[in-house]
Amino acid sequence: MNVLLLGSGGREHALAWKIRQSRELTHLYIAPGNAGTATVGQNVPISVTDFAAIKKFSLENDIDMVVVGPEDPLVQGIYDYFAKDEDICHISVIGPSRKGAQLEGSKDFAKEFMARHGIPTARHRSVTLENIEDGNRFLESLSSPYVLKADGLAAGKGVLIIDDLNEAKRLLWEMLTGKFGDASHKVVIEEFLTGIECSVFVLTDGKSYKILPVAKDYKRIGEGDTGPNTGGMGAVSPVAFADEVFMQKVEQRMIIPTIRGLQNEKIDYKGFIFLGLINVKGEPYVIEYNCRMGDPETEVVIPRIKSDLLMLLQGVATETLDRCSLDIDPRRAATVILASGGYPDSYEKGKVITGLNDVEGSIVFHAGTKREGENIVTAGGRVLAITSLGDTMQQALAASYANAAVIDFEKKYYRKDIGLDLSRYEYD
Ligand code: AMP
Ligand code: GLY
Repeated sequence: MNVLLLGSGGREHALAWKIRQSRELTHLYIAPGNAGTATVGQNVPISVTDFAAIKKFSLENDIDMVVVGPEDPLVQGIYDYFAKDEDICHISVIGPSRKGAQLEGSKDFAKEFMARHGIPTARHRSVTLENIEDGNRFLESLSSPYVLKADGLAAGKGVLIIDDLNEAKRLLWEMLTGKFGDASHKVVIEEFLTGIECSVFVLTDGKSYKILPVAKDYKRIGEGDTGPNTGGMGAVSPVAFADEVFMQKVEQRMIIPTIRGLQNEKIDYKGFIFLGLINVKGEPYVIEYNCRMGDPETEVVIPRIKSDLLMLLQGVATETLDRCSLDIDPRRAATVILASGGYPDSYEKGKVITGLNDVEGSIVFHAGTKREGENIVTAGGRVLAITSLGDTMQQALAASYANAAVIDFEKKYYRKDIGLDLSRYEYD
């Protein structure tokens, strides 16, 4: 099979690394990719949302399957673009239809979907300028802190958590009048839920599903979960508190109703569903859906999958996922992100990365890197994800941290506390 993978982050390097190992694979292309994906396939300089160029490349290179990493092309309808064009409708696209991608592309759509299918989530009100008074009254009925979410995609920056009621009302007005551009012309106000979060990933062909290893990411830049949000500074899998009892609840109350809901509403969905969950005193609630894998969660989830990923994806494409087996490595996985100093605010690029060849006992997935002559240099805020497997989480973390010290570049920054918050929980 010839596969085209779209994306350029650590998630895509991990997916490419795994697809490379498949005995079904002939050629693997990554658009646009990074210096890491270039070591397991061929990078092609095409933007993930340039559908015409993706079509042309797919036809010229006899592509059988397009695997979509990030949300943008999915929300913009790449699945439908392929399905509706007789030249390329024979090519499978791994990812939901435009309608299915609305689970991530519109917070309001996601909340309404959950309401229709009885899926537990925070109480909410969707507000536009027309019913802002309704929104203000709903805010008054809640207690602090207040959660405001831009309805549309906002590159991870669309959620505000505010302590003061008047400030929340002011920011609601600002959002509705354009603070986040088009993404916040509609705002979802939510009740704040207190608990610990985890990320559950499901692969579905629209009929049956497989639950992939559960993970937890660390979103804040600073240790002890302080400072601004980032794309994610590290991740672990499995998650000690997401034990069998909790996962049973997640499957019965969230996963099965989601798959059935998609089916009943005739929404095509052949891809990954990411459920961002919060555990409130043992009870799971959905915080958000994403229509793709998480990053950096993929960097711990994928290395724990022992089965051939391409065969699973083929099962998705041909709606025979129920006949595929999914074997999971029982070992623990941890990943630590090396970031550019200054991220998530402004940071410098082009710093030479050293020590990559001295890494032992970890897999290094590239996120923001590129090759410049003989060197690999930094090219983004999140630069590398250092993933390790171990019999215990402590071993996995120790290996990643040992290699985090070996790899270097100017102004390297990483959190030293990944996974530590979970040490108070027992693993099964
Ligand atoms: P989202 O983009 O919806 O995942 O929101 C970003 C982050 O905001 C989540 O990972 C949570 O940490 C936090 N968050 C979102 N919604 C809520 C909520 N209803 N209660 C508590 N925290 C929330
Ligand atoms: N790590 C969270 C995300 O990928 O959205």
